[in-house]
This record gives sequence, C-alpha cells and structure tokens, in this order.
Amino acid sequence: MYMNFTARNYNSRKCVYYIVIFDILINFEIIFVGCLGKKLGPRILGRRPESSVPEVIYQTLDENLGKNELQGRSDIPQTLEEFMTDMKKGGYDAKTFAVKLREMVTLMEQRTRMAKIQEYLYRHVASSSIPKQLHCLSLSLANEHTNNAAARLQLPSAELVPALVDNSYFHFVLASDNVLAASVVATSLVHNFLRPQKVVLHIITDRKTYYPMQAWFSLHSLSPAIIEVKALHHFDWFTKGKVPVLEAMEKDQKVRSQFRGGSSAIVANTTEKPKVIAAKLQALSPKYNSVMNHIRIHLPELFPSLNKLVFLDDDIVVQTDLSPLWDIEMNGKVNGAVETCSGEDRFVMSKRLKSYLNFSHPLISENFHPNECAWAYGMNIFDLEAWRKTNISNVYHYWVEQNIKSDLSLWQLGTLPPGLIAFHGHVHVIDPFWHMLGLGYQENTSFGDAESAGVVHFNGRAKPWLEIAFPQLRKLWTKYVDFSDKFIKSCHIRAS
Ligand SMILES: *[C@@H]1O[C@H](CO)[C@@H](O)[C@H](O)[C@H]1NC(C)=O
Ligand SMILES: *[C@@H]1O[C@H](CO)[C@@H](O)[C@H](O)[C@H]1NC(C)=O
Ligand SMILES: *[C@@H]1O[C@H](CO)[C@@H](O)[C@H](O)[C@H]1NC(C)=O
Ligand SMILES: *[C@@H]1O[C@H](CO)[C@@H](O)[C@H](O)[C@H]1NC(C)=O
Repeated sequence: MYMNFTARNYNSRKCVYYIVIFDILINFEIIFVGCLGKKLGPRILGRRPESSVPEVIYQTLDENLGKNELQGRSDIPQTLEEFMTDMKKGGYDAKTFAVKLREMVTLMEQRTRMAKIQEYLYRHVASSSIPKQLHCLSLSLANEHTNNAAARLQLPSAELVPALVDNSYFHFVLASDNVLAASVVATSLVHNFLRPQKVVLHIITDRKTYYPMQAWFSLHSLSPAIIEVKALHHFDWFTKGKVPVLEAMEKDQKVRSQFRGGSSAIVANTTEKPKVIAAKLQALSPKYNSVMNHIRIHLPELFPSLNKLVFLDDDIVVQTDLSPLWDIEMNGKVNGAVETCSGEDRFVMSKRLKSYLNFSHPLISENFHPNECAWAYGMNIFDLEAWRKTNISNVYHYWVEQNIKSDLSLWQLGTLPPGLIAFHGHVHVIDPFWHMLGLGYQENTSFGDAESAGVVHFNGRAKPWLEIAFPQLRKLWTKYVDFSDKFIKSCHIRAS
C-alpha cells in the first residue's frame, strides 16, 4: 500500500495521524487506504481514537519539526506501509512511535509541496522545452546535412544573392531555432503570396540549428520564393566588436540567476504558496532571455541595405497574401503593429502598459501612462529607414540596463516590455485582420474567426507543435505540414 498524496489532501496531517493510530489500535490491520480529508476520515472511522491513546503521542505530534531535521535522513519510513511494517516489528514505546509518525508525515507533506511546485513548473516547461519529435527532426536533418550534398545547398543560390539586398522585393525576417515551426511559417507565407517570385524570406537561426535548418530548406524548396538561411554568427555586424544585445543578455542572466537569492532560496521558503514559488522560478528561466527574442531590436544593423521588412514570429501561420502590408502608409512611424487593448478576448486583447510595466516604480510612472494601449510582437512591419533616424535601439538597451540595475523591478518577463518602451511614439496601428493573437492561450477562440484572419498567432502556452495545443485550432497550423514527408514521418510527427 502506498499513500499517494495529491494536492487535495495537502493539509491532511491530522487525518493521517488518526488513520495510522486507528490502524494500530485495531490490531495492526490496515482498513483505510486513501485519506478523504479531515472531516470524513474520523467519521468513517466511527469513533475518535483519543480515549485509548497515550497522552505522550499527542504531545509529540503537536510539536513542529525543525527546518532541516529531516535532511539527509535515511531512517524515515517513506510510505505508510513501511511505517506499519516497522511498527509491527515492535519494540517501540509510545514516544518513539509518535516521533517516527510525525517524521514520516512531515516528509510526505514536503514531497507533496514539491510535487505541487513541479506541477506548476511543468506547465511552463511543457511550453518551453523541445518535444522529442522536434529534437528527432533536428538530429535527422543534421545527419542528412552531413551525408547528402543536396542538403547542403547554398541558400539562396549564387545567382539569387543580389535579391537579398534588393528593395524591389518583399522582405520577411523570421528568427527561429525550430525547423518545423519555421517551415510552417515559410510555406504558409509563400503559398498564399500572389507573386511568390517577389518574396525574400531571411531565416535567422542559432549555431546549433543552422545545419538542420539549411538541410530542410535545401530539400524542401519553396521556389520561386527566395529563402536565405543564416546563423547569427554569420552576420558581419554580429562578429564585429561590441554587440550590446549579447552584453545585456549576459548581465541580465547574471541578475536573474541571483534574483531573490536564486532558485534554492526561493524554494526554501516553506510558507510561500507553491504557485507563487513556481512563478518566481519562472522569472529565472533563460527562455525569456534568448538571443532570438532580443534580435529584432537590431534589424537595422542586421539588414543595412533594406528599407522595409516584415518580421514574423515562428508561432504564426500566414493565411493570406501579405503584399498589401507594403501599401500601408506608416506616417513616418517605425513599427506597424496591432493594438492589444480593444478586443473581446480578455486574455490577450485587454493589455495596456500597466499590464507589462511596474507603475509602482517612479522610473515607469514618471515616463509612461498606465492606460496607454499595448501592441503586439508577432507580425510587425518595420520601416528601417525611419528606424535609422531614431534612437530606438539605444533606448531599448538603456531601459534593459535600468531594469537590471533596479533588480528586475521595472518588469520581470519577456522582451515586449522594453519593446513597448523603446518603440513608444513610433508605432503605427494596423488593422487587427493582419494579426490575430491568442491561439495558444485559450480554446474559446472560434475557428471561424481564426480562419478568416490574415495571420494567426499561437502566442501563449499551447503551441501547435505541442501536445497541449487546442485541437480545433491546431488544424490551421497542421494544414501546412506535409505528414507524408519522410523526415516528418520518421520522427513520428502526426496530424493529431
Ligand atoms: C516567505 O514567504 C512569505 C509569504 O510571501 C513572506 O512573508 C516571507 O517573508 C518569506 N520568507 C522568507 C525567508 O523569504
Ligand atoms: C540616444 O540615446 C543615447 C543613450 O540614451 C543618448 O545619449 C543620446 O543623446 C540619444 N540621442 C538622441 C538623438 O536622442
Ligand atoms: C515595483 O516597484 C516598486 C518600487 O520600486 C517595488 O517596491 C516593487 O517590488 C516592484 N514590483 C515588482 C513586482 O517588482
Ligand atoms: C470559454 O467559454 C466558456 C463559456 O462561454 C466559459 O465558461 C469559459 O470560462 C471560457 N474559457 C476561457 C478560457 O475563456
């Protein structure tokens, strides 16, 4: 028998005591397995066992254990069964019995607490870690890259290189370390484009994903569209001298790892709610600190010859021809984005600056309005010419620095908060048709609404490549995955 504690009976110490003591009293026969809670427990048992229990047992059970008393101890029974076996061997007086019982129950409670924290963390990890199918895809493509010359094509081919800096093309940028996600964005973009021969898609990836990404796009041509695959370290600008984004990230990671005393100090607080602990641990996560996330603030430097481009996140699907984005009059603004404060969806479309920034902090309250509408990353038009006339990248780094100096008290997560600050006054609001958000937050998004949007964005936890995706919305994404492809098939990536 194993007492499987769950969150529901977290506060069930008394109940366990009753059951165990009662068990002992009825000749070591265990009659009751699960703990149904304080009230139900003793009532089922019929009578309260106090009358026949020595007083010393209650005294001992009421004393609290010191903080580290259980650490490193191997003599504590791990389960109720073990405890009973121990007791049956006999030779224990009432006091020893009570001490052992108290230790066992405390240990179980601590485990329950950790399990609860882990449960909350898992929800986060489930959305940020790489499922094994995607890992498999990356490995098999890397292998293909090594063994098959056709998987090592220069992308694009030499005669198309001039198009990369030609402003008569429609330039898109996608930064991703997820080959499958990138392939959906690319495929959906090109298939829906009216003049695909005018599309240039610049895919930026990291060092470890470069070969798999190159292999995928070598073997899955989207011709006549032009695809460039480049790792960050291939950019001249990146290898030349100081790269503020890397410096900032290094500092940020240092501050995060020591934030609130680091993860062990956070977990050590036994009075804090498991949910709050999980949230604090999450703030330390490197997920919020990847170069891929920060890179868009350096688009003018990464693409010095381009005047205008559209930046796409890898959790979007394009469902329409995006060339009209180039006809939008930006009125000198830098960033064409959808606003996120006026929709019906209370999860993602009710965001104002106060949703992201700490207005209790004077640096924020003195400079910004809490009720100003926020906007979204995911599908943005960037006018690089206008951008180069501003100080946006400096402002961004200035505020990232301020946040680090003030121990992450201006904002805690993500790259949107400093983006909201840096692009303040430089945003041109575009029609919500161009970017529908929230498909990874909640399933109430109607399929019909989503289907009729120009671009849908699976921002939020339920990414379409994860098991936790909302099944009816996932179809919008799987539509652009070829499940008969040999790489997809061999890695067991399935439509549902
Ligand atoms: C633990 O968390 C509680 C509840 O938030 C807080 O009041 C207390 O100061 C914390 N203790 C330590 C040692 O940080
Ligand atoms: C740009 O930002 C930097 C750093 O915040 C500042 O020193 C400089 O004066 C700013 N320049 C302009 C033109 O605003
Ligand atoms: C917000 O700023 C105030 C003032 O600096 C600070 O006391 C508080 O801890 C900050 N809140 C968060 C969540 O960091
Ligand atoms: C979805 O809609 C139902 C019914 O309108 C509502 O009860 C539920 O809270 C909604 N769920 C979310 C996540 O918005």
